[in-house]
Amino acid sequence: MESNNRRVALTGFMGVGKSSVARHLASILRCDRIDLDAYIEKNEGRSIADIINYDGEPAYRTIETANLIRVLNGTKTRILSLGGGTWTIPQNRELIVERGLVTVWLESSFEHCWANISKSRKERPLAKNKTAARRLFDERQGIYCLADWHFIIRPEFNSYEIARQIADQVFA
Ligand code: S3P
Repeated sequence: MESNNRRVALTGFMGVGKSSVARHLASILRCDRIDLDAYIEKNEGRSIADIINYDGEPAYRTIETANLIRVLNGTKTRILSLGGGTWTIPQNRELIVERGLVTVWLESSFEHCWANISKSRKERPLAKNKTAARRLFDERQGIYCLADWHFIIRPEFNSYEIARQIADQVFA
């Protein structure tokens, strides 16, 4: 596929900044984007925190995969920001790869993600405290690393600069 027609899925741990990088990337490339978490909440009419808290994580993962399929089938959207757990589910990885999306891992230190999680107003039931978040972070590194591209995120970079780097390298 021509690099400027690529479709990209952004992955990475909670708090790394997937949604804001996706927003800037879409504006740099002048294309539309979908934020999977927001898409799920709109479609289901409930917050993700509500789904996980009341129905449990396995039920949430089923809903997440169903919505991922809808996004992949239903639109030609070029930029897709995933939830932090989406890429860790083998079926989701297969779907994303099968549809030809290029995957980009926004890689960062746990402390950076945790600092953002702690100050964010978004409720994240799977990162209720630092110990639980750290365990998930450690478990997932080897899976995120299966993404096609890795971009290291440092606290001193802003999300526009990261989006610029992705645009220049992945869409070069
Ligand atoms: C999750 C990350 C969240 C959201 C849900 C589960 C995860 O998205 O999808 O709470 O398993 O890491 P963000 O990464 O956008 O916070």
